[in-house]
Amino acid sequence: MDIERGSGGYDAAYAAWQRDPDGFWAAAARGIDWAKPPATVFAGDQGVYGRWFPDGALNTCHNALDRHVATGRGDQVAFIWDSPVTGRTLRITYAALLARVEKLAGAMAARGVAKGDRVVIYMPMVPEAAIGMLACARLGAVHSVVFGGFAAAELAARIADAQPKLVLSASCGIEPGRIVAYKPLLDAAIALSPHKPDACLILQREALAAELLPGRDTDWLQAEAAGVPHPCVPVAATDPLYILYTSGTTGKPKGILRDNGGHAVALHNSIGMLYGLKTGDVMWTASDVGWVVGHSYIVYAPLFAGLTSVIYEGKPVGTPDAGAFWRVCAEHDVKALFTAPTAIRAIKKEDPEGRLMQRHDLGRLEALFLAGERCDPPTALWIEALLKKPVIDHWWQTETGWSITGNFRGLGLFPMRAGSGGKPAPGYHVAALDEAGQPVARGQIGTLAIRLPLPPAALPTLFNADDRFRSAYLERFPGWYDTSDAGMVDPEGYVSVMSRTDDIINVAGHRLSTGAMEEVLAAHPDVAECAVVGVKDALKGQAPLGLVVLKAGVARPDAEIARELVAMVRDRIGPVAAFKEARVVQRLPKTRSGKILRGTMRRIADGEDYVVPPTIDDPAILGELEGLLRRA
Ligand code: COA
Ligand code: AMP
Repeated sequence: MDIERGSGGYDAAYAAWQRDPDGFWAAAARGIDWAKPPATVFAGDQGVYGRWFPDGALNTCHNALDRHVATGRGDQVAFIWDSPVTGRTLRITYAALLARVEKLAGAMAARGVAKGDRVVIYMPMVPEAAIGMLACARLGAVHSVVFGGFAAAELAARIADAQPKLVLSASCGIEPGRIVAYKPLLDAAIALSPHKPDACLILQREALAAELLPGRDTDWLQAEAAGVPHPCVPVAATDPLYILYTSGTTGKPKGILRDNGGHAVALHNSIGMLYGLKTGDVMWTASDVGWVVGHSYIVYAPLFAGLTSVIYEGKPVGTPDAGAFWRVCAEHDVKALFTAPTAIRAIKKEDPEGRLMQRHDLGRLEALFLAGERCDPPTALWIEALLKKPVIDHWWQTETGWSITGNFRGLGLFPMRAGSGGKPAPGYHVAALDEAGQPVARGQIGTLAIRLPLPPAALPTLFNADDRFRSAYLERFPGWYDTSDAGMVDPEGYVSVMSRTDDIINVAGHRLSTGAMEEVLAAHPDVAECAVVGVKDALKGQAPLGLVVLKAGVARPDAEIARELVAMVRDRIGPVAAFKEARVVQRLPKTRSGKILRGTMRRIADGEDYVVPPTIDDPAILGELEGLLRRA
């Protein structure tokens, strides 16, 4: 499908998709090499709400690597690993990457990993994390990457659910000022999980060597060196590529399932349509492979499109300074940078005038993309004024795998509006709905929902949990997918996402469940009841605040208990939760039916106006909390 560039290109492309969604996606599917080209684009009678390309077959790794080497691009750099925390930089060509992936796949196959088997990957930001993912894809195995900032218990919950045959991990991660020993966390997680993997491959890093358990663990590089190169295993388009666990409203994470075919088609298409990049361009997604943004735009989409992708092991500030992002962009000729608003806020705090930015030649940088949390307009305007390039906020979720809304460089940009995530991508029909499931007037706030079917790459279901998928996403508004985000669609079609409608909070672009933190606090022997709310944080967007009521007769100092609670959350969920504050209160505000009024508490803590809920049991308690929570 020829999509017109320039003014009106977005409208034309969106209308073309609306008129003929199958034609739109059939055209996009031609960008992918198929072992068996699909005759059917979408089958509404399969799966929970339908399946994409149900009779097609392909291999994701072939589309990421082999086909580029076969067409003469083997010498092009696929990954640039830039690691200020180790002082190293490494460039890996497509041919070299393919050679490593083939051998690792062989080593994994030798350990019994075959099509459909799960492999958990718990890794720092090193090229091997991506090599592990691609080796799984090559075998038709299903990877589940767990972010390194999660603690042993969270890793254990994912191992228990995914039941991996193999775990790929490393001896350590490197955070500024501290080495995080991963191996003891992995060992503890395996001990906690009722399911045990048969084998682990451990990447030994220079900074810290891990002890290997004879019979179970093997040195990754030795195993890879001995691996017999393995060919690509074709899989059905509907076969799973990966499971990525994300926070749900309970402590039990949801296993978001991604298929092979729809994923390859939509992600490949997005590189041109949304990011405006083409083969040979350099893209840098400053996220972590443990998040969906890292899966999609550090690893898969750039490789599908034959780009060069930067893997960065460092932070926006402190490694060594707030000029790090601009140094990386300049040094590696980055054309599109993608990060979370929190990273920009961190840079703004340290370098408000952009002095460090001016030291670097950003002539080749064309656009900055932001996602992961709402971008506050002052941050968007600040960075736009300094960079003098398009700053594109785009809204998405782990569930969708790519952007629901955005601005589309490949179609010709429409004017940006700070505070809005742009307009729906072709493939998504977005509306703000009221409680009864009816679209609210344009410009009014409602629950943002996507009309079914979801586009290719979005989750077909949850891993082994069709019923949970239906009840969590599809039942509230029949015929729609409930995003659990509140927001509005304005008269010109711009979508603004304001907040979550559930108990998910967004801390430094990381999605966390307050329910999971409450489960940890409730396990403290002195705690009678508790609530965790996300309060505003100037740097991280939101930060969790724990409020606990102690059991009668507990006489220990509040501060001591608070310290224990902070340590428990760090130990059970991980440092990524950034849970630093717990306060003891006499009682929690509740409705007469006993529901804790978390939203009201959050508004009190943020110093916002609130209405006293008519169903509140005892309104006097709100005054007490105001005195306690309102900050200066
Ligand atoms: N392995 C182990 N620990 C990790 C980790 C990892 N991969 N990533 C983070 N942590 C730890 C950090 O060391 C920190 O520990 P601490 O409490 O001992 O300081 C804690 O988890 C919280 O980390 P983080 O939220 O990253 O905060 P920070 O203060 O270290 O850095 C920012 C703040 C803004 C610089 C940082 O959050 C950032 O770069 N954010 C970008 C967000 C992003 O990429 N989001 C992805 C979605 S697009
Ligand atoms: P995750 O699944 O970790 O990608 O987090 C998804 C959630 O992050 C969404 O449901 C939103 O609440 C929030 N989010 C992501 N991108 C944006 C954005 N551009 N604007 C506002 N909120 C966003």
